[in-house]
Amino acid sequence: MAEVLVTRRLVDDAMAALEGTGEIDLWEGPPTAIPRAELLSRAKGKDGILSLLTEKIDAELLDAAGPQLRVVANYAVGVDNIDIPECTRRGILVANTPDVLTEATADLAWSLILSCVRRVAEGDRFLRSRQEWIWDPRMMLGQELYGRTIGIVGCGRIGQATARRALGFGMRVIYHNSRPLPAEIAGPLRAELRSFDELVAESDVISVHCPLTPATHHLFNADVFARMKPSAVMVNTARGPVVDEKALAEAVRTGEIFGAGLDVFEREPIVEEALLDLDGVTLVPHLGSATIQTRTAMGLLAVENLLAGLNGERPRGLLNPEVL
Ligand code: DGY
Repeated sequence: MAEVLVTRRLVDDAMAALEGTGEIDLWEGPPTAIPRAELLSRAKGKDGILSLLTEKIDAELLDAAGPQLRVVANYAVGVDNIDIPECTRRGILVANTPDVLTEATADLAWSLILSCVRRVAEGDRFLRSRQEWIWDPRMMLGQELYGRTIGIVGCGRIGQATARRALGFGMRVIYHNSRPLPAEIAGPLRAELRSFDELVAESDVISVHCPLTPATHHLFNADVFARMKPSAVMVNTARGPVVDEKALAEAVRTGEIFGAGLDVFEREPIVEEALLDLDGVTLVPHLGSATIQTRTAMGLLAVENLLAGLNGERPRGLLNPEVL
């Protein structure tokens, strides 16, 4: 019987799907992720690992697991927590959960955009502070979206879904990507390609959807914020380290930009102290894929990937086909 490490309890349907997969060793967090020492020791002798984005799957972990490890099924689309070349070198399959979280994450990006431009979270905090108020022509003025420009940084599946929603708000879409979008995708979005610098200067809203790589680490830094419009907002639902949080806090505090919305954090789960007291910033705890439907679909896909890998079949979310 295969031995499997599951590094956190998933939603019930996914846990049920795991039954019969093999002998399951389940880490019952939260409030914390599985501690590193515990992860290394529990990985030993496993045939498969169902990991979360909080677990670093690197050479040290693979050494600790041993040679029988056949598959790492990540319960996320982002795989910056996994050293894929190292897994490939050792013949270990790596799979993720693309597609199923696209729409939910785009919805969350829009929740942050709307909160920032119309000061929704700020208004909620204001009322809860029980201050006296009266309707006032100058109270909590935000930014209008209609007729303005959204810049999508990283226009893959989630970036495209975010752009599609922008059309409903009457916005113009520009994007920056490693490759231009094919005409059949860019056409219906009326999306125009820009260099990163052009996008930064032109956008009223910037939505970040690129993967975290050495090239995108601190892509948004003090120099970039200085070149954004003072009326602009930036939201990040990708990975925290793409944004220099201290520089962002300073840019919002000084009015260099209008506001920002963050779903992901540089030192997650730690939130940069300087951001916590800023009214122009909306913060949510990495909720991009957090709907009942999506977390269920992610769980079922992760379990399917795991099973396929254990059975020597091709997982649907396979990222290193060269292993097969
Ligand atoms: C992912 O899948 O990469 C998200 O960050 C969590 O769903």
